[in-house]
Amino acid sequence: MPSIIVLDDLSPEGLALLDAAEGVSYEVRTGLKGDALKSALNEFDGAICRSGVKLTPDVLEGNTRLRAVVRAGVGTDNIDKTAATRAGIVVMNTPAGNTISTAEHAIALMFALSRNIPAANQSLVEGRWDRKKFMGAQLAGKTLGIVGLGRIGLAVASRARAMEMDLIGYDPFMSADMAKSLGIELVEKVEDMLPRVDYLTVHTPLTDETRGLISDAALEKIKPGCRLINCARGGIFDEAALKKGLESGKLGGVALDVYPDEPCTDSPLFGMPNVVCTPHLGASTEEAQTQVAVEAVELLTAYLKTGA
Ligand code: NAD
Ligand code: MLT
Repeated sequence: MPSIIVLDDLSPEGLALLDAAEGVSYEVRTGLKGDALKSALNEFDGAICRSGVKLTPDVLEGNTRLRAVVRAGVGTDNIDKTAATRAGIVVMNTPAGNTISTAEHAIALMFALSRNIPAANQSLVEGRWDRKKFMGAQLAGKTLGIVGLGRIGLAVASRARAMEMDLIGYDPFMSADMAKSLGIELVEKVEDMLPRVDYLTVHTPLTDETRGLISDAALEKIKPGCRLINCARGGIFDEAALKKGLESGKLGGVALDVYPDEPCTDSPLFGMPNVVCTPHLGASTEEAQTQVAVEAVELLTAYLKTGA
């Protein structure tokens, strides 16, 4: 009977599906690393993870048993795909289950930045009634730049359109006609949108092209007062450049859900004025976690039973 190891926390609905699955057994073993992880992986035919566990070449090399790993979520950047392929391990993900939750988080961060919600809350609970200090900005009528028009980028676009924002987008795989039909003006490069956007949100993977997409050079071209949001992957914004941009007043604000190294408890931006940060919560809703867990269990059990 094929057996499955669950390497990160999985929603109760995913575990219930594993309990009910016929012809497979499973164990939950979270928090593993190093030799303990390597030897555990050799005891199972399939694995389910989120982003907590790191499946590095060291732990995958020499594995003779594991046939598949499913990431309950989008990004598979915590799994070394080259090492997995070398060991004959198939890597799968569940890309659609957390789209809406993550898009909603990006919009929530945009509102939080615009209306100073975290700072105003903090000031009030500390005993101050400071209405002047927290003058905000309205989103309607503002221009939002969206880099990456895939599942989450487009979900953000439709929500921002409902909020009466004007949309400019960049994605090398989107046609101008398709973008136009979605109410988005497509530009040929990110630089073209920088002088025009009041808000910029990124929804791409972290790649050689997107690493440091917002850097010192980009900040020279960006519209003064622009607010930036990253709910995609740490490293797409250069944090040192953001810090300078905030200190000089060129940037109106920065909201981050993701960091170059996670877990992250000491970003240079933490505690700065006009900065709102969350600890990688984009997909942390009951709905998203249920959906990705159920999809991950269905994918893995089907693969282990049928090879497809
Ligand atoms: P997706 O694959 O549907 O969309 C990504 C888009 O980025 C694609 O349309 C692609 O063409 C585009 N793209 C690739 N390279 C680009 C470049 N250089 N410039 C502009 N566009 C480029 O993925 P998705 O599901 O929308 O996820 C987007 C990102 O959000 C991923 O990095 C994913 O890991 C991350 N994510 C984060 C959370 C969270 O909790 N914060 C949750 C889910 C997903
Ligand atoms: C993802 O890529 O799916 C997200 O970053 C969400 C997560 O890791 O929970």
